[in-house]
Amino acid sequence: MKSITSIKSLQNKIVLLRADFNVPIENGKVRDAFRIEKTLPTIDYLVKKGARIIIVSHAGEDGSVSLQPVATWLSKKMKVRFITDPLPNAIEFNTTKIVLLENIRQNSGEMNNDRTFAKKLARLADVYVNDAFSVSHRKHASLVLIPKLLPSYAGLQVMEEVKHLSLILKPKHPFLFILGGAKFDTKMPLIDKFIQSADHMLITGALMNNFFKDAGFEIGKSLYEPKDFHLQKLLKTPKLLLPVDVVVTQKDGGKQTKSIAEITSKDIIVDIGSRTVQEVALLIAKAKLVVWNGPTGLYEKGFDRGTRGVLELLVKSKATTIIGGGDTVALVHKLHLEKKFTFVSTGGGATLAFLTKGTLPGLKALE
Ligand code: 3PG
Repeated sequence: MKSITSIKSLQNKIVLLRADFNVPIENGKVRDAFRIEKTLPTIDYLVKKGARIIIVSHAGEDGSVSLQPVATWLSKKMKVRFITDPLPNAIEFNTTKIVLLENIRQNSGEMNNDRTFAKKLARLADVYVNDAFSVSHRKHASLVLIPKLLPSYAGLQVMEEVKHLSLILKPKHPFLFILGGAKFDTKMPLIDKFIQSADHMLITGALMNNFFKDAGFEIGKSLYEPKDFHLQKLLKTPKLLLPVDVVVTQKDGGKQTKSIAEITSKDIIVDIGSRTVQEVALLIAKAKLVVWNGPTGLYEKGFDRGTRGVLELLVKSKATTIIGGGDTVALVHKLHLEKKFTFVSTGGGATLAFLTKGTLPGLKALE
């Protein structure tokens, strides 16, 4: 994979820049610009080298979301023209050197990985740059076909992601992996892989409920995935740690901290308890590398003491700290704590896939 810094000359070249501006939009405004901000160094670099840029991105799962709010956000930082067609026949550059095309998923050729579509898009530019790590797990035309049609490079954020996430693939020890959130299916490959290389793996969030259940504990009305993940072997692994206490609520509200053995059929587990946070503190103090993915509880519903507790510990830690996953990263960005970590990944599903497989289709296409 070659970085854009290896391109000899970009003077007057037209660059097709695949970005991931799939950001939360509320009332027509960008609510969290973390991913956009992370692409700005690449845009700045290309502009400084004299290139003209066509930015391509998706927003939302299908083509229904417009990128107009992103164009408005960008226009506060740079001169940019928004083109309401995701696949124009030609682009006239005037004094404005940057254009943003409408949501590329509005054209079915993108998600269908269609060759004719890719050729039409590639014809608009001289060079292709992928700075969209967080969508590079998708085999979509703008990620895997365009690199076959144009000289292709990785943007600065993609290089940063690969550099830092690779540290997890060859970890320093002691290595502590903290996993939370839900979606057991997507996290199971990660658990299976990193239980090998981690010194400790702490399971929190809704994930812990599956483990508690399979260990024979009552989990009441807590969220869990009703599928057999064959956790018995993992449950016997001393490296695998489960919380010693949890916060529970009930249908009619309230909040209580309980040890696992005290949970009743009416309880809903919503977070890890304070004794567990204290144990995490001891583990973090010894660790050289801490990786965290997924909140420890239902923090968006106010059950956030565990997540905030872990966050505070990591902010103070001298270990290499790497964070990934949409919810955890959104919280870190909201609290302006990003600079306190060694690296905060822009990816959700892409980060999990990179860690599991060591590469992604969109990155392989650049090789
Ligand atoms: C993300 O938000 O994870 C990326 O933008 C990918 O989006 P997708 O899951 O809709 O492909």
